Amino acid sequence: MQTEITKLLGIEYPIIQGGMAWVAEHHLAAAVSAAGGLGLIGGANAPAEVIRNEIREARKLTDKPFGVNVMLMSPHAEEIAKVVVEEGIKVVTTGAGSPEKYMQMWKEAGIVVIPVVASVALARRMERSGADAIVAEGTESGGHIGEATTMTLVPQVVDAVNIPVIAAGGIADGRGMAAALMLGAKAVQIGTRFVVANESIVHENYKDRVVAAKDIDSAVTGRSHGHPVRSLRNAMTREYGKLEAEGKSFEELEYLTLGTLRKAVMEGDVVNGTVMAGQIAGLINKKQSSKEIIDEIMSEATNLLKNAGSLV
Ligand SMILES: Cc1cc2nc3c(=O)[nH]c(=O)nc-3n(C[C@H](O)[C@H](O)[C@H](O)COP(=O)(O)O)c2cc1C
Repeated sequence: MQTEITKLLGIEYPIIQGGMAWVAEHHLAAAVSAAGGLGLIGGANAPAEVIRNEIREARKLTDKPFGVNVMLMSPHAEEIAKVVVEEGIKVVTTGAGSPEKYMQMWKEAGIVVIPVVASVALARRMERSGADAIVAEGTESGGHIGEATTMTLVPQVVDAVNIPVIAAGGIADGRGMAAALMLGAKAVQIGTRFVVANESIVHENYKDRVVAAKDIDSAVTGRSHGHPVRSLRNAMTREYGKLEAEGKSFEELEYLTLGTLRKAVMEGDVVNGTVMAGQIAGLINKKQSSKEIIDEIMSEATNLLKNAGSLV
């Protein structure tokens, strides 16, 4: 399936694996790219040299293109922005803000820049600042979220900008992908389903929790301070919710969650850790290789789109 995004990124299928903190390291990114999608290494809050090493390790596993997600609020964002240039990375997605200050450096290096946005206003601003494409991410997503749903956000962003749009949030199978393309997206970005991929280094307890999750098992914490995060309900989200209702400060709440994603991903503490995952976790019921995930989604989406005329 060729779209403006597959052509722009030089990939086989219009599927991008989200640059997930702690989860999206070189094994997963390389496996997704080798399977024909675009793998991303998640920069998150990691030091720049860690990311340089991740890039080099991924290159040992695949010669296909992969990218890096630069989390702009990271204390290491500036150095990571330079590392991606030095290491010859050709695709960068950005989260948590606007990458305007790095745009010139990245453009001069021939890097395709794809900011992740949760509103039409930010999509427009990103287009003006020279972005090549946009990820429009709905509130169904795992991790840090905005307020609009994928169903409402994607067509509004598609109408607002002239660059190609990638839909994210709540997409985990061929039906979701076909729907996103119908809304005008030219590719999808998937997070939660790749969390349970065989090549994801996430602890089995975490994967089991995602596989067991039902439709209403996620909770949003942090809304009161304007930093909402979606994860699966557990003792941690309950404690957070309680403190939030008591009106505790952002700093106190941040302290509670310090290192808790790492705790869930690396140690498998799914009770007191933060098990970031999206609302679509309820649909995900098996662990598979990244290639199986991509092949299954592509075959289902292609069939649906081929038969779209006979659906009504
Ligand atoms: C565990 C986890 C960690 C994430 N961390 C990041 C991150 O560091 N930067 C980012 O831009 N997006 C992050 N995301 C969002 C994903 O990149 C992706 O856009 C989102 O998961 C798509 O929605 P879905 O989970 O419904 O597939 C994260 C998502 C998950 C599930």
